[in-house]
Amino acid sequence: MTEHKVRVLIEESEVDKRIEEIGKKISEEYAGKSIHLVCVLKGGAFFMCELAKRITVPVSMDFMAVGSYGNGTASSGVLKIKKDLDETIEGKEVLIVEDIIDSGNTLYKLTNMLRARNPKSLEVCALLDKPDRREVDVDVKYTCFSIPDEFVVGYGLDYAQLYRNLPYIGVVEFE
Ligand code: IMP
Ligand code: MG
Repeated sequence: MTEHKVRVLIEESEVDKRIEEIGKKISEEYAGKSIHLVCVLKGGAFFMCELAKRITVPVSMDFMAVGSYGNGTASSGVLKIKKDLDETIEGKEVLIVEDIIDSGNTLYKLTNMLRARNPKSLEVCALLDKPDRREVDVDVKYTCFSIPDEFVVGYGLDYAQLYRNLPYIGVVEFE
């Protein structure tokens, strides 16, 4: 692996505080309703657990894993379902939980696919957003942090499958 270091970008206490705020906001805006959280694996897992603990309306959860065909990036080709949802989303208030919105291609394809399953509503909550990298327009209702165009790890995000377990957001710096 290329030699590198990880520099702290957003400290654990700051991440926790922001998730608390977003959880409160979501609870207020979905008052009187139930939320069906859809976690996009693997990156969304840590964020979804922390977020779910801070939502006060009834919550159900499901998980899906997606990728793209071939060895291109997520931007190319068709969205491949590696693991589909276990339950139907028809008629549910669905909130997709994503780790990061980069080009927006994954989310664009995913929301189109899930919208065709007729949820009552379909919104997105992302831990991080890199707006400078956007290639397609996607509607993200809740964002915890907008960050510069740097490669980040931690809180579910990986570099070659490492660092997902870091309790903070870090930037990978190559020597
Ligand atoms: P998009 O289709 O370009 O928006 O790709 C989004 C996906 O790429 C995310 O869900 C992540 O899995 C991955 N990704 C994008 N930027 C980063 C990063 O800085 N660190 C780790 N993974 C990233
Ligand atoms: Mg992801």
